[in-house]
Amino acid sequence: MDQDTTGRIGALIARMTLQEKLGQLTMLADGLVETGPPGPHNPFNMVADGRVGSLLNVWGADLIREAQRRAVEESRLGVPLFFGLDVVHGHRSIHPVPLGEACAFDRALWEETARASAQEAAHDGVHMTFAPMIDVARDIRWGRIVECAGEDPYVNAQYARARVRGYQAPDETGRMRLAACAKHFCAYGAVLAGREYAEVDVSQRALEEVYLPPFRAAVDAGVAAIMPAFVDVAGVAMTAHRRLLREVLRAQWRFNGLIVTDYNSIAELVNHGVAADMAEAAALALNAGVDIDMMSDAYANGLPVALERGLVSMEDIDGAVRRVLALKQSLGLFDDPYRGMGPAGTPKQPPSAEGRRLSREAARRSIVLTQNRESMLPLGAVRTLAVVGPLADACEDQLGAWASAGAGEDSTTIIAGLRATWPSAEVRHALGAVYEGEDADLLAQAVEAARGADAVVLCVGESRAMNGEANTRTRPYVPQGQLALARAMLDSGAPVILVLCSGRPLILPDWLVEGARAVLIAWHAGTETGSALGDILSGACNPSARLAVTWPRVLGQVPIFFGIRPTGRPHDPANGWSTGFGDAPFAPRWSFGEGQGYARFARSNLRVDNARLGPESLVRVSVDVTNLGDRQACETVFVFSHDPVARVTRPLLELRDFTKVSLEPGETRTATFVLRAWDFAYPDETLKLRLDTGLIQLHVGASARACDLDRVDVEIVEGTP
Ligand code: GLC
Repeated sequence: MDQDTTGRIGALIARMTLQEKLGQLTMLADGLVETGPPGPHNPFNMVADGRVGSLLNVWGADLIREAQRRAVEESRLGVPLFFGLDVVHGHRSIHPVPLGEACAFDRALWEETARASAQEAAHDGVHMTFAPMIDVARDIRWGRIVECAGEDPYVNAQYARARVRGYQAPDETGRMRLAACAKHFCAYGAVLAGREYAEVDVSQRALEEVYLPPFRAAVDAGVAAIMPAFVDVAGVAMTAHRRLLREVLRAQWRFNGLIVTDYNSIAELVNHGVAADMAEAAALALNAGVDIDMMSDAYANGLPVALERGLVSMEDIDGAVRRVLALKQSLGLFDDPYRGMGPAGTPKQPPSAEGRRLSREAARRSIVLTQNRESMLPLGAVRTLAVVGPLADACEDQLGAWASAGAGEDSTTIIAGLRATWPSAEVRHALGAVYEGEDADLLAQAVEAARGADAVVLCVGESRAMNGEANTRTRPYVPQGQLALARAMLDSGAPVILVLCSGRPLILPDWLVEGARAVLIAWHAGTETGSALGDILSGACNPSARLAVTWPRVLGQVPIFFGIRPTGRPHDPANGWSTGFGDAPFAPRWSFGEGQGYARFARSNLRVDNARLGPESLVRVSVDVTNLGDRQACETVFVFSHDPVARVTRPLLELRDFTKVSLEPGETRTATFVLRAWDFAYPDETLKLRLDTGLIQLHVGASARACDLDRVDVEIVEGTP
């Protein structure tokens, strides 16, 4: 920030009363959408006397303009508000839920959809998105697994970087269009038993290697804000986690952006049992480096008392105010409080043609084909299709959790999309089942619809209210009524295409997977779900998505992920004295990276250009990929490493890079990755980063399954002393 701006902000702070300062540190929700317990306030009526500095959950020209007008024209100092909203996977044009779009393994797409979201949201007056959500998650019971980029820290880090660049891309004035707020710092995905808001007990090693890296990537990408998680980590509430917020985030990582709490979480420090009252809670948060109090009134009501008790300093309050004003300055709000938004009276815009195009493209790249027996797909000429299940015509639910401004009226549902794909076919629709519960009439209607059909498209899974925040499920299964429908469809004799629509991996009965001819994981794929599915089923699009999360076979395997450590008795199916389960297979139903297209690939000629590495060395890893199919296809290639001998046990696989290779029929291309020797450094037994001399295995291929990987080794010949 230049000297003038610093001077102007300093002069403004000097004029502020304590109430006005605390107003800048207060963010209140005004309810176009509810994302937490409603508060007692009427925020619009608090703006004119400077008691609120930012609003969340409001968008649209009229509301934003009126709130901003009150701030700049009626408040004593005329300080503009900023407006925050969870623009997590689209604004009005909704993209696949993040767990789904992560399956695209495409950094450019992740950035493009973030940039497009920012354009739509900014037009509606939004200045900050509470995204990306980059909490590594490995427990399918946890409803918020839907919001992150899956189980792997490297993927979440790459996703974080792409999203921050996309959201914060400059607008026509050169200022960031939308401030990103990476959340929830940190390890929220490790809640005990997947239980929402539960305690987190992870090792310092897990923090360093799994849960912190995505946030480091967001900070290195210049993220404007960070949101601490609701939870405590090893007994220290994240909202008051002085070591991780002040010493790590601010001091070590040199993050000088905003720390915005999660909803009401300062007040909830009293529930955590670490503060006796609101004044202590406010002091703990401020002293830990928290700038903005979202919805708890703790700063407004608690900090004056904390000042009197000597628990906080005015210097720290001023420091927080300075960071809030600096964000408003960097958003250009002092120059133009109405920057970028439509004029008063602008109706909320439905998706543009470009918005729909991108939603459709993102959905095409996120839907994972995991089974295609006898190459049933793509469907050729179709006379009669039966499209059944609660997700077949689910205009709201297909948008998924956290779709904020998304509107069901904009959706191209699955039934609509398939009818548009096959306009001359008879495409029958039957609900067949409700989400949870049995209905014999609905079932009978579906049986009738399936009679004589060339194929049944069975669309089952979750409503969007069955995942997301405060939606931990102890039985993350396809509900019984939907399974009854599935069984009836399999009994119909028509080949069944199973389309799973959910915000998480669901436990599936073997008979369903074995009975279905094809299986597609469509997640909640957004506004253009139906068009994208039609493209895939018809072959207009060759599916290229791969699983960014391991899909368990039975719930008892959870938490399950590929980056496990070997143990002293590595799994060996021939040895009962090896790690595994007595009543279930060791392997998941589908592994990280699994997914098919309409072409097979061959990998060959795996090689490195430098097999002996010093600390500053680079190594180029290359593999040739050939499209053995008869149509354009896109393969995903992953590079994992394993350190077979180190001072601490190392994961069997650590993901180091991934890329997509697009190939014409018969074409061969080389996928090349550049890794640094330091990529193979690890925190030793004292958590000090060290690079050992010795062998490093590189495993390159199409998924985390051993059968999909080829190996080449490199040797670190000079490491750290
Ligand atoms: C919610 C969520 C958080 C969201 C915030 C504002 O409780 O935990 O992810 O950004 O409140 O809606």
